[in-house]
Amino acid sequence: MEKENVLEVKNLHAVFRIQKQDYEVLHDISFHVKRNETVCIVGESGCGKSVTTLCVMGLLPQNGKVTSGSILLNGEDLTKLSENEVRKFRGKKMGMIFQEPMTALNPLLTIGYQLRENLMLHRGVDKKTANSMAVEYLNKVGIANPEQRLKQYPFELSGGLRQRVLIAMVLSAQPDLLIADEPTTALDVTIQKQVITLLNDLKKDMNAGIMFITHDLGVVAEIADRIVILYAGRKVEEGSAAQIFNNPQHPYTKGLMAAVPDVDKEDFVIQPIPGIFPNITEEIPGCRFNPRCPYADSCAACKSVAPETVEVEEGHMVASHLVKKEVSA
Ligand SMILES: Nc1ncnc2c1ncn2[C@@H]1O[C@H](COP(=O)(O)OP(=O)(O)OP(=O)(O)O)[C@@H](O)[C@H]1O
Ligand SMILES: [Mg+2]
Repeated sequence: MEKENVLEVKNLHAVFRIQKQDYEVLHDISFHVKRNETVCIVGESGCGKSVTTLCVMGLLPQNGKVTSGSILLNGEDLTKLSENEVRKFRGKKMGMIFQEPMTALNPLLTIGYQLRENLMLHRGVDKKTANSMAVEYLNKVGIANPEQRLKQYPFELSGGLRQRVLIAMVLSAQPDLLIADEPTTALDVTIQKQVITLLNDLKKDMNAGIMFITHDLGVVAEIADRIVILYAGRKVEEGSAAQIFNNPQHPYTKGLMAAVPDVDKEDFVIQPIPGIFPNITEEIPGCRFNPRCPYADSCAACKSVAPETVEVEEGHMVASHLVKKEVSA
């Protein structure tokens, strides 16, 4: 049986108002996340990864707005709900972990207090049950001596432990969707690996979909079932991890792959993609990638026509004139 979609983002457009003018930050973004599946949203800094998560969570800043499209969580369109109704979904049906767990933890309250409150609120249990469940959840995320940890304040824990506490907190609400925005970027490499392993282990019994944001392809390789590549607010490619890693089609994806350092080689060199990433206020007619595309000189359409999305193999979508040409040839 087909696994159900917990999240379905369809033709999402969003703008930011800057000095009385609206600039499009997301253009026609569509993707979905199934239960027990990890979808990685990948792209350079500024491509719209965080804005996508904020749209889903209903947490866009004041000057941001979803202008069209839909965001279905378990089939319910969040863009049609009031702020109050979306707030009820946040924390319960969808939980989020960030780069800096302190933004979500209260520095003035113990870990135990915060976990218990969360459990009482979202699982409707009494304080005593909440306490034993809190111990259980800390165990689940691999925290030793959970009873002692519950008495501590967030500042008494290391960054890696704080991230585990936040993961425990989010999981304890039993969300259908877990959104992780660069949750390992601030951690050192060993701890980063541990958190990734933890998320992979939890995925199995969590029964949720995971939307994982990162610009680190090494992390993507370890965690992704499917991958969505964004460039300047557009989806340029989407496919299974194997399709994207073994058979990248868009010149931007190919560039990203070439930029991955081979850590097994001694003194590896990171090769950035040549060219400058555009600002959202910059107007680029045609394909947004054309100023940096190595094939732009031989492509007649790219400076005037936006490429259509083509399915090159089952579930593998690419928006590039190059691919269209190959398919129609
Ligand atoms: N409140 C805002 N007002 C105007 N522009 C904004 C605002 N927040 C973000 N942007 C712009 O929107 C674009 C997308 O930003 P976003 O934070 O989603 O990038 P990102 O892909 O998450 O990057 P990073 O990898 O650096 O986290 C960027 O060009 C950014 O400058
Ligand atoms: Mg971001």
